[in-house]
Amino acid sequence: TWRMDHFVEHTIEAIREKVGDGKVLLALSGGVDSSVAAGLLSRAIGKQLTCVFVDHGLLRKNEGDEVESVFGPDGQFDLNFIRVNAQERYYAKLAGVTEPEQKRKIIGEEFIRVFEEEAKKIGAVDFLAQGTIYPDVVESGLGGESAVIKSHHNVGGLPDYVDFKEIIEPLRNLFKDEVRKAGLELGIPENLVFRQPFPGPGLGIRIIGEVTADKVRIVQDADAIYREEIAKAGLDRSIGQYFAALTNMRSVGVMGDERTYDYAVALRAVNTVDFMTAEAAEIPFEVLQTVMSRIINEVRGVNRVFYDLTSKPPGTIEFE
Ligand code: XMP
Repeated sequence: TWRMDHFVEHTIEAIREKVGDGKVLLALSGGVDSSVAAGLLSRAIGKQLTCVFVDHGLLRKNEGDEVESVFGPDGQFDLNFIRVNAQERYYAKLAGVTEPEQKRKIIGEEFIRVFEEEAKKIGAVDFLAQGTIYPDVVESGLGGESAVIKSHHNVGGLPDYVDFKEIIEPLRNLFKDEVRKAGLELGIPENLVFRQPFPGPGLGIRIIGEVTADKVRIVQDADAIYREEIAKAGLDRSIGQYFAALTNMRSVGVMGDERTYDYAVALRAVNTVDFMTAEAAEIPFEVLQTVMSRIINEVRGVNRVFYDLTSKPPGTIEFE
């Protein structure tokens, strides 16, 4: 029988053998896959591993600090952790850009630039590690649907902008649920291990139209409230993917005696088997009402909240 503790032990051994006393570089996104890869590599080779975490300012609320608390110097893993706070750079590049694929392209290219700069500071490494899992291998081979309809910047060929000899992919044979089990085995916190899927371009594609620092604040705060209430209602592990997005629509409302002209937030929650098709999740109306009233009361700049009922197809899960 196949056991996760055996997988972890064997993989650690195999990494040690392959890496020897070499140096390994990993781009840590804070997602499940790169986090588990970091955990395994850290247990195997400690400070021979350097993780670069690029905070592009499009992460969910407090997420950058959460990643740092797990993998940074005060965390439980032995490794070199470099956090790059690139928020301002990204916002500057995205100013005035409204077209979704253009935004994806800018976010992807900026990541390469930031990572390249960090890699140059570190110098040549022997291995570049990636958190590739089995479905990624299959999807990029067959040209998965999302790869065609929306360009995925985080699935693709080998980066040529980092000076390395070999690639190392310790999760290449695992499915997602196995990656999660390995993560728990390694002591990575549950909130990270059971994190819902989060797109590489982050909140950049959950803000319809132009991205600004103020819109990021709005969508982060609204999304944090939504996630908190979904968790309180005990639904956080049963819904496939759920998040708040900021529509590009402003409308008239009334707050006290004042007329307002503010943004509308859209709530999305879907159930899905493979993310190729999806249906809107049935969230109890009281939960939606609580989320609506909290968002409007607590998030400045929002005066309307919508719930998206659209299936995929014809909709997509994300708004862009
Ligand atoms: P859609 O919106 O295409 O989303 O129905 C399907 C799944 O893919 C995720 N997604 C992305 N992931 N880069 C990513 O890494 C992207 O550009 C991207 N676009 C969508 C989405 O969150 C959902 O899980």
